[in-house]
Amino acid sequence: MPVESSSVASRLLAHYDRHARRLPWRALPGANAADPYRVWLSEVMLQQTTVAAVIPYFEKFTARWPTVADLAAAPDADLMSAWAGLGYYARARNLLACARAVVSDWGSAFPTTEADLLKLPGVGAYTAAAVAAIAFGQRAVVVDANVERVVARLFALETPLPAARPEIRAKADALTPTTRAGDFAQAMMDLGATVCTSRNPACGICPLREDCAAFRTADPAAYPRKAAKKAKPQRSGHVWWIVRDDHVWLERRPDKGLLGGMRGLPTSDWSATPDPAPPADACWTALPTPVAHVFTHFALSLTVHIGAIDSDCMDHQDGEWWPIARMADAGLPTLFAKVADAVSKKEDAL
Ligand code: ADE
Repeated sequence: MPVESSSVASRLLAHYDRHARRLPWRALPGANAADPYRVWLSEVMLQQTTVAAVIPYFEKFTARWPTVADLAAAPDADLMSAWAGLGYYARARNLLACARAVVSDWGSAFPTTEADLLKLPGVGAYTAAAVAAIAFGQRAVVVDANVERVVARLFALETPLPAARPEIRAKADALTPTTRAGDFAQAMMDLGATVCTSRNPACGICPLREDCAAFRTADPAAYPRKAAKKAKPQRSGHVWWIVRDDHVWLERRPDKGLLGGMRGLPTSDWSATPDPAPPADACWTALPTPVAHVFTHFALSLTVHIGAIDSDCMDHQDGEWWPIARMADAGLPTLFAKVADAVSKKEDAL
């Protein structure tokens, strides 16, 4: 039976009216549009990150910066520290650039069309469509990984991802209704996150079961088809935990590059053959187990070196002595928080 666009939309919206997740940035189903600032902030935070991980950050950000103008006025370092732990730090730098552009170019009111939203720094096709639909009630086609999965299953698409993306987009466009496009987008995302899940889809309770071509196959979870994954390259490096008077030496990483603009510990380059030269003279002890962390494009293994210095030999460098008792407030990205954790476990064992 071919998928019938209008019946998919109406079945899904009826399901959403009863089962929409109550999320702090969401208006109730069918209600007037939500605050564009909160929609935009949540959509940026939700890229590559789960709803459960985002909620506490969203609450913290909106309590501290209730409007886009408040956020635009935040010092860069405050925002980067508040973002620490959410990952993909380019999002935080773009967030600030975008808030400042909304204030300076749009009188602190978000533009309302997808085309104008796309002109904002860091706003790509997904965010522009999501904000236009959810905050401004415009018909826009919103496609994230959840929507991709739902659409690939509805039509049992045989083309693997990522090659299937244009086809998925065209199908999602055909399914999107002219009214309630924001609710429709959120309903698709909720369905993908809670029912049409990647490994164990709950087809028994799915409102789109009758429309779904994958449901009629022996293995709905086999969609979307995926191209074979390449193994992640492995890199290694050294990281130095330099102690002086109950403080540790922290640097601000350069704005460009991985973890750009975040606080961090001094490290070597990250490569197949990292330079082991330490940044200061000390009697160094290496932890027996390196700290492992997986980034999008490579896996990293850092050997942790601990050493104490009592001179001021770091003071000419760009960084600061941070009280070890207040490590949790340093706003360290997860990689360096793991290193601090490994060091504190070793100190506990002594
Ligand atoms: N994932 C990204 N944006 C979302 C939203 N608005 N609702 C549910 N899941 C989402």
